[in-house]
Amino acid sequence: MASSTVQPISLYSAFDRISAEIDTLFEHLLKAPEDARARLYDAMRHAAVGGGKRLRPLLLVTIAGLFGVERGAAIRAAGAVEAIHVYSLIHDDLPAMDDDDLRRGKPTVHKAFDEATAVLAGDSLHALAFELLADEAVHGDPFVRIELVRILAEASGPDGMAGGQMMDLEADKQGYDLHTVTRLQQLKTGALITASVEMGAALGRASEEARTALRGYARDIGLAFQIADDLMDVEGDEEKAGKALRKDEAQGKETFVTLLGLERAREQAHILTEQAVGHLHGFGAEADLLRALARFIVERDR
Ligand code: IPE
Ligand code: IPE
Ligand code: MG
Ligand code: MG
Ligand code: MG
Repeated sequence: MASSTVQPISLYSAFDRISAEIDTLFEHLLKAPEDARARLYDAMRHAAVGGGKRLRPLLLVTIAGLFGVERGAAIRAAGAVEAIHVYSLIHDDLPAMDDDDLRRGKPTVHKAFDEATAVLAGDSLHALAFELLADEAVHGDPFVRIELVRILAEASGPDGMAGGQMMDLEADKQGYDLHTVTRLQQLKTGALITASVEMGAALGRASEEARTALRGYARDIGLAFQIADDLMDVEGDEEKAGKALRKDEAQGKETFVTLLGLERAREQAHILTEQAVGHLHGFGAEADLLRALARFIVERDR
C-alpha cells in the first residue's frame, strides 16, 4: 500500500473510526442472553466483531456524509450491510461451499463452533440486517426505510450476492468466459458494494444526477475490488489476508486472473479505478475520501 496516490492518514484513520463504530454497534446488539441461545450470539459476535476491513460501511457512511446524514443513523444502515456481508462469509466458508478454516485471521465460525451453529449465525445476521433497517433510528421517514430494505434485499438475493455465489459454485462445471465471469462478480461482490453506495445516497435523499454518478463509481470499484481479490488469491500473503489463498486455481475456477493473466488483470483494475474516480468529477474535495478509497481497493493486500 506504499503508493503516493493514496492519502494514508485520512483514509486509514477513517477505516479505524468506522471499524470501532461497527464493533461497538455489534457488541451492543449481540449481547448474549443467559439461556441456550448464548452460543448463537457468541457465534454471531465471533464473526461480526473485530477484523474485516469494513469497506462497505465506510462507503455507505462516507456517501451519506456527502448529503449531511447524521452519522449515528448512517452507522446503523452500515451495520445492516455489514451484517449481510458477514453472514455471506460465514456461509461461504462452510464445508458445503469453500470449506475454509480461517477468516479475518481467526478460525471460521464452523471451526470455532460447529456447522449447525454457523448456519444459524448466518441466518440470524441476515435477519438482523433488515431489523436494523426497519427501525426508525435509521430514518424518520418510512418510505426511506422501505427503500433501504428494497436495495439491500435485492442485492442479497438471487439477483445479487446469492445469485453470484450460485454462479460461482457452477463455475468449474461450465467454463465461463470473461463476460460471464464479469456478470458473476458483479452479483457475488459488486451487488453489496453498489448497495452500500445506493443506501448512502438514499439515506441522504440524493438527486437522481448524483445517484447516477455514484452508481457508476460503485460499479467500477466493485469490479476492481474483485479483480484485486483474485490477484490476492494468486500473489497475496495469507498472514496479511487473514484467509486461505491459492484456492481459485485448485478449485479449477475461471477468474479475472486466469482469463486475463496477472499483468492485464492488474492493468484492468487500475483502469477501473481511474474510471471510478472520473465518475466523481461533479463532487469537490468532500469526495476525496471516496477517491482515496477507490485507489486503496486495487492496492490492498488484505
Ligand atoms: C471478502 O470480502 C469476500 C469477497 C466478497 C471477495 P472483504 O475483502 O471485504 O472481506 P473483509 O470484510 O475485509 O473480511
Ligand atoms: C466470497 O467470495 C463472496 C461472498 C461471500 C459473497 P470468495 O469465496 O472469493 O471470498 P473469499 O476469498 O473466501 O474471501
Ligand atoms: Mg466462495
Ligand atoms: Mg471463499
Ligand atoms: Mg476469493
